[in-house]
Amino acid sequence: MVLRGFALASEAVLLQALDAITAQAPFRHLVTPGGLRMSVAMTNAGPLGWVSDRRGYRYDPIDPDSGRPWPPMPAVFLQLADAAAAHAGFTGFVPDACLLNRYEAGARLSLHQDRDERDLGQPIVSVSLGIPAVFLFGGLQRADRPQRVPLAHGDVVVWGGPARLRYHGVLPLKPNHHPLLGETRINLTFRRAG
Ligand code: SIN
Ligand code: FE2
Repeated sequence: MVLRGFALASEAVLLQALDAITAQAPFRHLVTPGGLRMSVAMTNAGPLGWVSDRRGYRYDPIDPDSGRPWPPMPAVFLQLADAAAAHAGFTGFVPDACLLNRYEAGARLSLHQDRDERDLGQPIVSVSLGIPAVFLFGGLQRADRPQRVPLAHGDVVVWGGPARLRYHGVLPLKPNHHPLLGETRINLTFRRAG
């Protein structure tokens, strides 16, 4: 379900919270298990953070760059994730991980499934901020042709239930400018990981 503009009402608080998180845990380019540097820069908030390195993908309570826990999940993040999930029919969503993705022009995310989380009965809530992107929403097989969903600042996407394991990704971003976020797109994905 795409909730157009759902995050706009909390935009100012979200951006403040974002600054506080990235001051403690700056965005960084992770390496895939295959040794490729990801074009999207990432960081996390909450008890668990998604990380990738030569050893594989996993959720980890510790930021490997600082050796300290990830910054706490801001209250505004929890409220937004719960409200968006409820709109899509998933009540009582309490994420324990927020992956923050920063895209600049040319950055992309290839088709993948979110399957590192323990309880696949819980949905994924994805919040788009900054310059626009085209979200690819595929099927349950990698080869299924994905739908192209344009996402703008403030849009929220929720997928779960029978759609929980659908392949998804983001096309390479076109250069653009957003009055609050400059040349970047920031995406927050909320997960119940542990
Ligand atoms: C993700 O699949 O984790 C992020 C999707 C997005 O950036 O819209
Ligand atoms: Fe994903």
